[in-house]
Amino acid sequence: MFDTKDIGHLREKISSLMSGYRLAHTLGVEEEAVRLCSLFAPEKESILRASALLHDITKEFSYQKQLQLSEKLGIIIPCCAKNAPKTLHAITAAAVIPDEYPLFAEREVIEAVRWHTTGKADMSITEKLIYLADYIEAGRKFEDCVRLREYFYGAEPEKMSFEERSLHLDKTLVLSFDMTIKQLLCEGIPIDENTFSARNYLILSISERTAPTKH
Ligand SMILES: [Fe+2]
Ligand SMILES: [Fe+2]
Repeated sequence: MFDTKDIGHLREKISSLMSGYRLAHTLGVEEEAVRLCSLFAPEKESILRASALLHDITKEFSYQKQLQLSEKLGIIIPCCAKNAPKTLHAITAAAVIPDEYPLFAEREVIEAVRWHTTGKADMSITEKLIYLADYIEAGRKFEDCVRLREYFYGAEPEKMSFEERSLHLDKTLVLSFDMTIKQLLCEGIPIDENTFSARNYLILSISERTAPTKH
């Protein structure tokens, strides 16, 4: 397992590899993930920091380079990812971690990186927090990002019980999937099926938790 010093070295390496915007975003995701971590899973801080730093490591590669990388690593690209290049980097980033960043090749890190763009059914807390941190980090200025940030923090989750806060997190993720799906529909581009699965899973889970108890 890696420690704070290892995270510092990782941050230095990542900083030397990324452009100004991508680096600022990556460090923003790390900061946001730490903030969320304190609300949900303080024991996961190192995992979340490493996942945040690694989540976009292949984002600046061209589409062609990502396809070549996938071929080299023997990754089978799902059809919808091929047609939605924005989601491809999550697959390639997760795939390069074992070779290029072996110290951080923990299953939780790889999975959080893998699912940070589309989500999936039954996400772990690490996956949820990296997904949300990527959406709402302070540098994000898009209307949907600002709206989601306000929705999440405006409800003052720090004052909620852990159960209420976990429910609020799931409702926030549903809103994010709704906004993403609407946006992709407007753009007329394919929607990854994992995003539908993520949304459906959470809606059912929320309704089970909020259903009135029968006597
Ligand atoms: Fe990303
Ligand atoms: Fe990102």
